[in-house]
Amino acid sequence: MSDRLRIALTKGRLQDRSVEMFERFGLDCAPIRDPGRRLVHAIPNYPLDAVLAKAPDVITYVEHGVCDLGIVGRDTILEKGGAFYEVLDLGFGKCRFALAVKEGTDFYGTYRTRRVASKYPEVTRAFFARKGMDVDIIKIEGSVELAPILGLTDAIVDIVETGATLRANGLVPIETVAEVSARLIVNTASMKLHKAQITDFIARCEAGLEGQP
Ligand code: PRP
Repeated sequence: MSDRLRIALTKGRLQDRSVEMFERFGLDCAPIRDPGRRLVHAIPNYPLDAVLAKAPDVITYVEHGVCDLGIVGRDTILEKGGAFYEVLDLGFGKCRFALAVKEGTDFYGTYRTRRVASKYPEVTRAFFARKGMDVDIIKIEGSVELAPILGLTDAIVDIVETGATLRANGLVPIETVAEVSARLIVNTASMKLHKAQITDFIARCEAGLEGQP
């Protein structure tokens, strides 16, 4: 059995923030900072290998136990679900899911079945199920803001960080669906098999978070 842990990092913004956290607790992240075309990176001064992956794949690798740990947004966790431990709210990558409509429209003021576009149909389904409200959900792959602008849907459920994208497209958030931030997740078997190592890693992450801006 390898004495090294393997962690899957979500590529992009969360990758940068994860590396900053690791460096605050003393990991040498030079291999991740200058990755070239490599996807697996050995941390020289800690028994940890990091792989870079798309958010849903981070969950897949952790669920299947080929990665012991993962860093992924709660947005992806809510959409994809899965069997793993969510052990730490890392506090960065903060944003929210919001229900948004074209400015001046009254989403709730009709009995007609409303249509809602989202890249996150499961999050959207669960939100309206909690309200006991029947809606038609249309899955859109990107730039979801277009759907109400083009008249395809009455609303969207999407990630809002600064709100600039909504404003630029004449949309307004009318309700928060869920708060989002990056989470540290752990494979359930790894948690038992590598308890001491994983506990040490979690404690270091917590310490690294204290210094975060
Ligand atoms: C997200 C989201 C919005 C935008 C919101 O897209 O889908 O379009 O960010 O951010 P804001 O509130 O700060 O304007 P992202 O940039 O992640 O790209 P994507 O469309 O590929 O998901």
